[in-house]
Amino acid sequence: MIALGADHAGYEYKEKIKNLLQSLGMEYRDWGTDSTASTDYPDYAHKVAEIVASGKAEFGILVCGTGIGMSIVANKHKGVRAGNVESIEAAKYARLHNNANILAIGARLISWEQAKEIVKIFLQTKFEGGRHQQRVEKIHSLTNL
Ligand code: RB5
Repeated sequence: MIALGADHAGYEYKEKIKNLLQSLGMEYRDWGTDSTASTDYPDYAHKVAEIVASGKAEFGILVCGTGIGMSIVANKHKGVRAGNVESIEAAKYARLHNNANILAIGARLISWEQAKEIVKIFLQTKFEGGRHQQRVEKIHSLTNL
């Protein structure tokens, strides 16, 4: 299952991501927001990060204006590795090298066409492991997060 969240700035991309996931046959759950009315991104980022940290969702996707606020909040949760991604290349490496489990994107910074490819690549790329395994472990072992 993929957990989705967005604030007002990310709402429209989140709705499009739902259609994309449906067309890919991937299960998702939407944690809001449900309109373009102004709201606070931490509410959605905390919720989605909790779901990913608990293991109830394999991945989370968060959308706000820049992706920055969402990734800052999500990375405060134990076991979460959120990447704020603005290119297809970064989406690939966020999974390959960082084993990122949350994708944060900025709807005001990238086009829907870019966002769509970023989401697809993020979800389709597997962690490379090997030398990256201990690096990823150190992300958590050297903090309490
Ligand atoms: C909302 O205006 C904006 O600040 C928010 O969507 C996000 O970009 C925060 O990081």
